[in-house]
Amino acid sequence: MTRKVWGGRFRGETDALVNKFNASIGFDWRLYAQDIEGSMAHCRMLAKQEIISDDEASLILEALGEIKGELDKGQFPLDDDYEDIHSLVEKALVDKIGAVGEKLHTGRSRNDQVALDVRLYERDALYRIVELIKEAQITLVRLAEDNFDLMMPGYTHMQRAQPVLVAHHLLAYFEMLKRDSERFRECIKRVNVLPLGSAALAGSTFDLDREMVSRELGFDRISENSMDAVSDRDFVLDFLFASSVLMMHLSRLSEELVIWSSQEFGFISISEAFCTGSSIMPQKKNPDLPELIRGKTGRVYGHLIALLTTMKGLPLTYNKDMQEDKEALFDAVDTVESCLEVMRQLLGEISFKGERLKKSAEEGFLVATDLADYLVGKGITFREAHEIVGKMVLFALEQEKELHELTLDEMKHFTRQIKQDVYEWLEPASSLDRRNMPGGTGPEVVKKSIAKAKQELKL
Ligand code: ARG
Repeated sequence: MTRKVWGGRFRGETDALVNKFNASIGFDWRLYAQDIEGSMAHCRMLAKQEIISDDEASLILEALGEIKGELDKGQFPLDDDYEDIHSLVEKALVDKIGAVGEKLHTGRSRNDQVALDVRLYERDALYRIVELIKEAQITLVRLAEDNFDLMMPGYTHMQRAQPVLVAHHLLAYFEMLKRDSERFRECIKRVNVLPLGSAALAGSTFDLDREMVSRELGFDRISENSMDAVSDRDFVLDFLFASSVLMMHLSRLSEELVIWSSQEFGFISISEAFCTGSSIMPQKKNPDLPELIRGKTGRVYGHLIALLTTMKGLPLTYNKDMQEDKEALFDAVDTVESCLEVMRQLLGEISFKGERLKKSAEEGFLVATDLADYLVGKGITFREAHEIVGKMVLFALEQEKELHELTLDEMKHFTRQIKQDVYEWLEPASSLDRRNMPGGTGPEVVKKSIAKAKQELKL
């Protein structure tokens, strides 16, 4: 016996290959809770509008509740013959209560149904992800606070550039996550529109109360155009874009953790519980977790490009191509959630090596810009000061010395303006202290940034 919800027009059975290729039940079973939630709201509305009777609605609602319980326990075989979760639930309903169950689909199509289910699913995921981002931000701020006294080299082009506070570096990621959180919250606004009532594409002949369904399901508003509502997957693309940017940020942080934990840098150590070893090299302690986060970024980008490509040539309205949205969305949700959780825990397993960081900030002419600024303070133009310090760096390199290791006489050889006070000026700590301007790495400003972040996070 066929289980098809569209069997009437067909004389025989569907080819097995077609069933297998066409079916989405293998993945869209994940929408079952949303599918049932949407069906219950639709059913209550049908009764209120007297399209079905109250008794019929009660029967349907009770049976849907039972089906939900059975699906929660994983009691349905996810047979390809069911095609998708919408058909499966409807079939289960009719099996339970007979013909009355067949009334549920009045004024509805799987086209508006699937758009609804995916919106509900994504909305749930968005709320969870916003919360996970917040937890990662809390860990970052705590890490910044715990390591407030530490400085490190800041880099451009992966070359040592200027000393910065470790806390300042960490808070850069706090800012990125803050923008990510904003982006995901923007997605909530756009996902929160009810498509149900659009039916197949043209709306319905029944007197549906769409506002009622919208209220019941917690939507902000109903969709304006039935053809757009069943064709639109922008909200999935928004999600995949926000996810891609978030993953890019997590990947950059991961990359830094990998580099910092290398012997070459030795800036941090990651606790053993969060590292792995090698099957052949007994000495290895590898940072697999940040590497995996970095690696998984690629698949999320892939989903964004895949769905953009799937959508680009589709004429209005629904086309089966759009069934491809789900695996992309589900995998992106899983990836983003697990990466945020792993990153949060990983950040709690990091210890900074203060001495090594400080030494690195003292070597490599990180205060050269400060020295140029010092000369500007003595009345030299910045361009000339830059030139002078460049020559001093060259000289120091030849002598195999740092700038602060040059004698005053050696320095005076480059300009008479240099005085004894230059040595204090060349301390990396004083370099930080001079940067207490808005957005700078000065300790006073960074302390304020931490306080502000904690306030935002309600800590
Ligand atoms: N499984 C389908 C999807 O995910 C549900 C909508 C099917 N609609 C249709 N007219 N075949 O897109």
